[in-house]
Amino acid sequence: MPADPTAAARPQGAPAAESAPVLEAEGLVKRYRDREALRDVSLSAARGEIVAVIGPNGAGKTTLLTILAGILKPDAGRVSLGPREVGWVPQQPALYRKLTVAENLRLFARLEKASDPELEVKRMLELTGLLDRSDDQVAELSGGNRQRVNIAIGLLGHQRVLLLDEPSASLDPRQRERVWEFVLGLAEAGTAVVYSTHNIQEAERYARRVLVLADGELLFTGPARELKDVVQREGGGGGGDLEEAFVAFLRTRGH
Ligand SMILES: Nc1ncnc2c1ncn2[C@@H]1O[C@H](COP(=O)(O)OP(=O)(O)O)[C@@H](O)[C@H]1O
Ligand SMILES: [Mg+2]
Repeated sequence: MPADPTAAARPQGAPAAESAPVLEAEGLVKRYRDREALRDVSLSAARGEIVAVIGPNGAGKTTLLTILAGILKPDAGRVSLGPREVGWVPQQPALYRKLTVAENLRLFARLEKASDPELEVKRMLELTGLLDRSDDQVAELSGGNRQRVNIAIGLLGHQRVLLLDEPSASLDPRQRERVWEFVLGLAEAGTAVVYSTHNIQEAERYARRVLVLADGELLFTGPARELKDVVQREGGGGGGDLEEAFVAFLRTRGH
């Protein structure tokens, strides 16, 4: 068997992302009346792989993720998995603030028709590291912990793919860090993660592969490091900040 060139760069115990994708989408097109929100967008994600979809507001990120989640039908193209096969975490958590953490998990486990809701609640509390907060009202949780519960609910069906729409948009840097710790742990255990962000640093930091969307058009797909190089090169170099360089990158492509 040939040596795995990525093995050395992987944390111990982390599985190799298999080359066979667990999620594939091809040629996705979506129109809202005469506005084209997605134009021929394709992507794939392998086991344990983290893929970022990055682009400015209105780029089509939420549209793309809701189509991958099976909630929205594309006008053209196909997605390899059905709606129940992917975990979906919308940007706005659908949690009941007045219920406790455990009550929320129990409610969603029942909605998900888990065969043993109580076991599922326990598994989710352990997964999120929120065992000691299980009887606290969701309203009392920090934004980061609330997002963990939100993500856990997205994975109630034991899906192998997790879709996150701007998972850290409303979090402060420390909360963001903790949510990412959690998501990285899920990926290390083999979950394929696709998330959207409008922050290039957040794309570069966590994703192995990055897709750049602008006005529904796929402008780049490749390793995060490559995007950073291209952006810095085209942004005029000179040690300017990455975000600024990214805006320049989009501008040179007419966006
Ligand atoms: N339900 C809708 N009806 C009409 N236009 C929509 C709808 N949802 C999104 N759009 C438009 O489609 C484009 C992409 O939106 P969206 O996918 O929400 O982008 P992003 O998540 O990247 O900000 C935007 O121009 C937006 O105004
Ligand atoms: Mg959005």
